[in-house]
Amino acid sequence: MAPHAETQFIDSSGYTPSTDVITELKRKLRLHHPASVPGASWISKGSQTIDSRDTDTDGEASILQLSLSDLKEIEDAFLFFNATKLPLNKLQAEHFPLPTLSIKIRELSILPPDKQPYFLIRGLKPQWFSKYKNVAIYAGIASHVSTKRAFAVGDHNVLHHVTNIEIPCEKEEKIYRGPANRNLAVPFHTDYGAILSLYILSRPATGGDFYLADIHDIASQIARTRPDILETLRQPFVMVNPNVEGGRDDRPLLFTLPSGQFAIQASRTRLFGTACRPRPSSLPPLSAKQLEALDALHAAGQAVARRFEFRSGDMMFFNNLKMMHARDAFVDGNEEENTTKRYLLRLILKGERNDVNWELPPELNQIWEELYNHADEEEIFTVHPELFSFKASH
Ligand SMILES: [Fe+2]
Repeated sequence: MAPHAETQFIDSSGYTPSTDVITELKRKLRLHHPASVPGASWISKGSQTIDSRDTDTDGEASILQLSLSDLKEIEDAFLFFNATKLPLNKLQAEHFPLPTLSIKIRELSILPPDKQPYFLIRGLKPQWFSKYKNVAIYAGIASHVSTKRAFAVGDHNVLHHVTNIEIPCEKEEKIYRGPANRNLAVPFHTDYGAILSLYILSRPATGGDFYLADIHDIASQIARTRPDILETLRQPFVMVNPNVEGGRDDRPLLFTLPSGQFAIQASRTRLFGTACRPRPSSLPPLSAKQLEALDALHAAGQAVARRFEFRSGDMMFFNNLKMMHARDAFVDGNEEENTTKRYLLRLILKGERNDVNWELPPELNQIWEELYNHADEEEIFTVHPELFSFKASH
């Protein structure tokens, strides 16, 4: 049977917003003209695409195209790390020396609020490497962006596999298989943490494009007609706390930082649950206003987003307190047709550079403790594909 997207998959949890609801919200919020309000300073033309044909100067500034000497430096760094015989969880920049490339990465990895809050490293050929080598190269390059990787309480995996993993129907009842391990579209949301990174090992046959939307642009769009929605987002939401059976977290999703910048932390799985694990009935339901506000984030995100046609080998890093992300549904390829699966690796890093003011809303202090306050040796790198746990889901 030909591969297919899970079009027949019904999600009644609310994680996946209804197309009719989003269409109606776009009409109410007058989101038909995405370029009608000024975008964030780093974005100049509203909804845009970055791909091989991109000629936009903002886009080019955010891409570090690896040269042959950069690739040689990465190869040498891998050999250096291999010779240390250290486990992956001990991999830090000193074990993966990139004498000249590190400087280029550091220039991009500032991710300042008033500049482009993301960058792409392009030019790796993951198909040439073993799975282990891809993981070591990814963690090695990421260690030049940040020394601290995140994990979830009770789930010490730091490396996550974003790819469609089918499991037998009878197991779906017992094993969590969240949006990251399906091929459905994923609405605008954030993961948990400061810097989200993705390494694209391979692309699907069709679909799967990735989107980033700046919370400044989303909020500007919403504020034109419905500033009350922003107020709703600034009030506490009751969320699932996966660390405790029946646990809950009460906190806002949208924050205004002392600098005046917005910050957002809005994981839809913690709000709605997912199709296979809906929000527990022991928690109070989300109010109609809260549901509308969450879907407005998605509707406005679609209006202002920049679309990325990832290439295999792309490594992306972005400010996850500032940028919401989404993806299209996709259809994986197969070996018979010489096409590949969509397969991304994820690491979540900490914004920790002294020369950058990484402001954090106090309401997120406890979560940051849980994500980052651990020793490297507690981290687990699962090199081969494994399902996301609910704790690590987004
Ligand atoms: Fe995500």
